[in-house]
Amino acid sequence: MSDYQQVTVAEVVRETEDAVSVVLDADFDYRPGQFLTLRCGEVARCYSLSSAPGLERPQVTVKRMGYGSTWVCENIEAGSVLDILPPAGVFTPKSLDDDLLLFAAGSGITPVMSIIKAALARGTGKLVLFYANRDENSVIFANQLREMAGERLTVIHWLESLQGLPTARHLTALKPFTGYQAFLCGPTPFMDVVNQALRAMGVPRDRIHVEKFISLSGNPFEEVEVTEEDGEEATVAVDLDGQEHTFPWPRNKKLLDLLLEKGLDAPYSCREGACSACACRIERGEVKMLQNEILDQEDLDDGIILACQSLPVTDTVRITYT
Ligand SMILES: Cc1cc2nc3c(=O)[nH]c(=O)nc-3n(C[C@H](O)[C@H](O)[C@H](O)COP(=O)(O)OP(=O)(O)OC[C@H]3O[C@@H](n4cnc5c(N)ncnc54)[C@H](O)[C@@H]3O)c2cc1C
Ligand code: FES
Repeated sequence: MSDYQQVTVAEVVRETEDAVSVVLDADFDYRPGQFLTLRCGEVARCYSLSSAPGLERPQVTVKRMGYGSTWVCENIEAGSVLDILPPAGVFTPKSLDDDLLLFAAGSGITPVMSIIKAALARGTGKLVLFYANRDENSVIFANQLREMAGERLTVIHWLESLQGLPTARHLTALKPFTGYQAFLCGPTPFMDVVNQALRAMGVPRDRIHVEKFISLSGNPFEEVEVTEEDGEEATVAVDLDGQEHTFPWPRNKKLLDLLLEKGLDAPYSCREGACSACACRIERGEVKMLQNEILDQEDLDDGIILACQSLPVTDTVRITYT
């Protein structure tokens, strides 16, 4: 069974007609923009923390869509106990002092809200948020954003009901901010448009950070299958949290399974190639990934791999999590 934690729900706050925030009576470390994995009835789903670490109680914000989110909206109330996996994910600014150009659509505001609150409280940079929604009533955190907007935070609302869907041409108005670090979260068509606009405005790939909201197909709370070892082992050197470790790596063992078995605190969530929580960079050698639903070609070209899906190809491999 995965290493999960049980937390009590302190409060459920209705944000819009179809979105709720679930406030947890818990205290744990995380970075702004990270997510939790929740057991939702028969399935597991990832939900970004919309709270700012250290400033308030942790909370996730869930928009009702299909089975998992409806389960949360209908079953969770103050006093409920939730099974959660530790915070994970790489959708988080390197420095809260950076200038940030943030794009969110619908429930994609969740991790962005966490980043905004943390950056306003602890950072010094300028923040520009482009926030698209179906109509006025579906804008999650409308009041909080109004209160936070000011010298450091500019909020640009886009309502589909009034303005139609945003296009790459509309987004060129944001050209003055293309020197900022860009963070994008929302439905795939929205992110495709934003990505296209940013690239057309000359924003390099390493300044564009993307969080994709997809549903897990497996359940990381269930028993993890352990495969039998066979054949000659490879060797892997891993740089994690400033420490270097070297292990023999059985050819049919996934890298994440190996690292956890060796007692390393390697990050993960879904264990099925869908969330990028386990992303790391390959510095030497080659691996093959059994499944990859999240990294794009540019990530792969940059040497990013998913530890939960990687098997060794070469005899020696070097990986870093920094
Ligand atoms: C890192 C990460 C962070 C996330 N953060 C958030 C967050 O902060 N807030 C949030 O609300 N969500 C978030 N999500 C998305 C969330 O995990 C779920 O994907 C979302 O809640 C939908 O799950 P569901 O079980 O309710 O819907 P599902 O049952 O998985 O359905 C999802 C969508 O697909 C449609 N669908 C389902 N089955 C079919 C089918 N057979 N044919 C056609 N359409 C179908 C549904 O109608 C629905 O529109 C995040 C996801 C990830 C990976
Ligand atoms: S743990 Fe989700 S992609 Fe590896």
